[in-house]
Amino acid sequence: MADKDILTGDPSQDENFLIRTFGDSIYAYLAKRQALDALHARPRQVVFRHEVPLRSQHVYGTGQRAFGLNLFGRRLTFWNTDAGAYHRGWEPINYTIPFLLNMHDEGVIAVFVDNTHRGTVDIGVANPNLAVFEFEGPARAVHTFQTATLDEAVARFCQLTGHMPMPPLWALGHHQSRYSYMNQDEVLAVAREFQSRGIPCDALYLDIHYMDNYKVFTWDKQAFPDLKGMIDELHSMGMRLVVILDPGVKIEPGYEGYESGLAQNVFITYPDGSPADGVVWPGPTHHPDFTRSSVRAWWAEQLQPLLEAGTDGLWNDMNEPLYFGNNEAISPADYLVHHTDEGVKNHSEMHNLYGHYMAMASRLAQTRHAPQRRPFVITRSGYAGTQAVSSSWTGDNRSTWDDLRIAIAMNLNMALSGQSFTGPDLGGFANDTNPELLVRWYQACVLFPFYRNHSAVDTVRQEPWAFGPETERILRDTIALRYRLLPYLYTCFAHCAHNGTPILRPLSAAEPRNPHIRSLDDAYLVGDKVLVAPVLEPLTLRRTVYLPAGSDWYTLDGTTKYPGGQLVDVAAPLDHVPMFVRAGTVLPTWPAQASSVLPAATTLRVYPGIGTSALYEDDGSSMAYETGAWRWVTFHCEGEKVRTEVAGSYPGTQLVYAAAPFV
Ligand code: GLC
Repeated sequence: MADKDILTGDPSQDENFLIRTFGDSIYAYLAKRQALDALHARPRQVVFRHEVPLRSQHVYGTGQRAFGLNLFGRRLTFWNTDAGAYHRGWEPINYTIPFLLNMHDEGVIAVFVDNTHRGTVDIGVANPNLAVFEFEGPARAVHTFQTATLDEAVARFCQLTGHMPMPPLWALGHHQSRYSYMNQDEVLAVAREFQSRGIPCDALYLDIHYMDNYKVFTWDKQAFPDLKGMIDELHSMGMRLVVILDPGVKIEPGYEGYESGLAQNVFITYPDGSPADGVVWPGPTHHPDFTRSSVRAWWAEQLQPLLEAGTDGLWNDMNEPLYFGNNEAISPADYLVHHTDEGVKNHSEMHNLYGHYMAMASRLAQTRHAPQRRPFVITRSGYAGTQAVSSSWTGDNRSTWDDLRIAIAMNLNMALSGQSFTGPDLGGFANDTNPELLVRWYQACVLFPFYRNHSAVDTVRQEPWAFGPETERILRDTIALRYRLLPYLYTCFAHCAHNGTPILRPLSAAEPRNPHIRSLDDAYLVGDKVLVAPVLEPLTLRRTVYLPAGSDWYTLDGTTKYPGGQLVDVAAPLDHVPMFVRAGTVLPTWPAQASSVLPAATTLRVYPGIGTSALYEDDGSSMAYETGAWRWVTFHCEGEKVRTEVAGSYPGTQLVYAAAPFV
C-alpha cells in the first residue's frame, strides 16, 4: 500500500481511492457486500411517528447540524454519517440527537424522542404548525416537557440522559493537533516551539500515522521508539498527549488486537454469525461490538500499553461508524448483527449508538488503567446522553469563512442538545487556511469549551507561528486571554456538570420573550455573564452586536457600559474580539500562563451592578471533587459592593479583588 495514497485519499472525493489503496482485494469485499445486500434487502418502512405542535417558528437542538441556529423549515435525518469536508447544508453529519426545543413567547417546549433507529424530523416543512418525527423502528420512550427557559429545558434533558463529568482542567486549555505529527522528534519539536514562543498549549494529538500500519492499540516503533520517554518529556513541559483510536481492527493474522478479538468473539457479525468485514484506513477490518459490556472491557484491556506509556486522552474517530465504499463512505449494512447486553439487535437499531458505546469503552480504559486521573475522551459520533461519557468536536469542517460562520450555530445546537463540551477544528480541517481566517477562528471560539487547532494532511501548516510574527502575536494574546478567563469557563463547566445547564447559549437565552433575536447566531453567551461577538467575515474591522435587554453590559476591559436591549456598533480590529460582561458580575481571572496549572491566587474583577455570580474550584485533576473536595464561592453584587458566600471544604486559591476591571 502506497502511504502517499492513504495520506491524500479522501474516499468521498476520489473515485479510485479504494482500488489504488487496497488493490484488487477490494473487489471481493465490494462484491460480497453487494450480494449480501441483495439477499437481505428489506423495504424501509416508517413504523413510528410522533407529532409535536409547534408554538413558534424557532426550533433548536437535534445534535450536530451544518445549518444556522434556527432549524425551523428543515427536514433533518437521524443517522450518524461521516461527512468529510462537509459544508453548510450537508445532511446528516456525524452526531445526531433526537431532541428538539421549540422556543415561544411563554417558554420552551422540549421533546426527546428516544429512538435509536434511522429517522427524520420534519420541522414545519409539510405543516408550519407541526414537527413530525418518523423512525424505522419503535421508540424506547418519548419525553415532553415545558419549561420557562432554555437552560431549564437542557437541564431536564440532562437529568434524563446524564450529566457531563468534570473534565481535567487541562482539557479546557489550548490543544494542538495535525493529521499527522509523524514521529516523536516532530512531536517534541512542536512542543518546544510552544514553549520557546510562550504560547500556552495543554495538549498535543497523535493522528493515525502514529500507529503501526493503522492498527489500533499499536504504535509504530520506528517512528516512536520511546513513546513513554516522549510522553514523559511532554509532561515535564506541562503538556498532555491525546491519541486517536479508530474502531476498525485490521484483519491480520498474528496481530494481537485481531487475534484476541476473534478469540473472544468481540466483532459485529453477519447474520450467519461470522465477523462482518468493512474497509477503513488499515484496509479490511472487523468492528468491535461495543454494545456489549464484555467487549468494552476487552477494548479497555487492549489499551493498557498505550495508557501505561502515559497517554492522557483518547480521541475516538470514524465511529458513526463508516466503511469506505466504492467512491464514498458508507454505513455498515442494516442487517449486521449486534449481540448487545439486552439481546440480539440489527445494526439499524444500534448504528446511532455506536459512537456512544465506543466512547464508553475508551472511558472505561482510562478509569481502569489510570483511576487516579480524570479521564479525557473525545468522540466524533454520539447519541443522546453521550455528554456523560465524552466530549466531542464538529468533525471535518473546511478552512472557509462560511465554515467559521456556522461553527457558532453548530456548537450552540450541540450545547442545547445536552453536549456542551464541543468545539470545531480551529482554523478549519480541510483546505488551506490563511492568517486572517485563523486569527478570527481563534477569536470566535475564544471561550468555546473545546479549543483545538487541527488540520488535514496536505493542507498548509496552521500552528500559531505558521504565518509569521504578527499573526503569532495576535494568536498568542488570544490564547492567553482564554487562559486568563479559565476560572470563569471552568465554573460554567461546573454548572453544566452539576445541573446540566449549557455552557454556550444563544443570545435568546438571555432575553427569552423577544422573538426577534431567536435566530441570532453571530454571537453567543458563555454561561449567562459573558457575551462574545466575533468577526466572522474577511476584511472587517467593526461590527454591530445586539446586547440583550434586562441588564447593562460592560466591554470586557470595563471602560464602557451599554444599556442592554440595543444594537451597538463596536470596533473589531484584527487583534481584538469584542466581548461583554453583564453588569453585576464578579469575573474570576488568572494570570496568563503557559499551561493550566492551578495558580495560587484568583483575581476577582468587579463589573458593578446588581447580580449574582460564582466561582467553582477543585483540584482540576483528581476524582476527589466527587467526594466533596470542591468550593463554590457566590458573589452578590450591589453596585460596587460585593458580599460573598462560601460553600465546600476545598481550600481553593487565594481570592484577590483587582483595582481595575480587566486589563
Ligand atoms: C477523520 C477525522 C480527522 C482525522 C482524520 C485522520 O477525517 O475526522 O479529524 O484527522 O480522520 O485520522
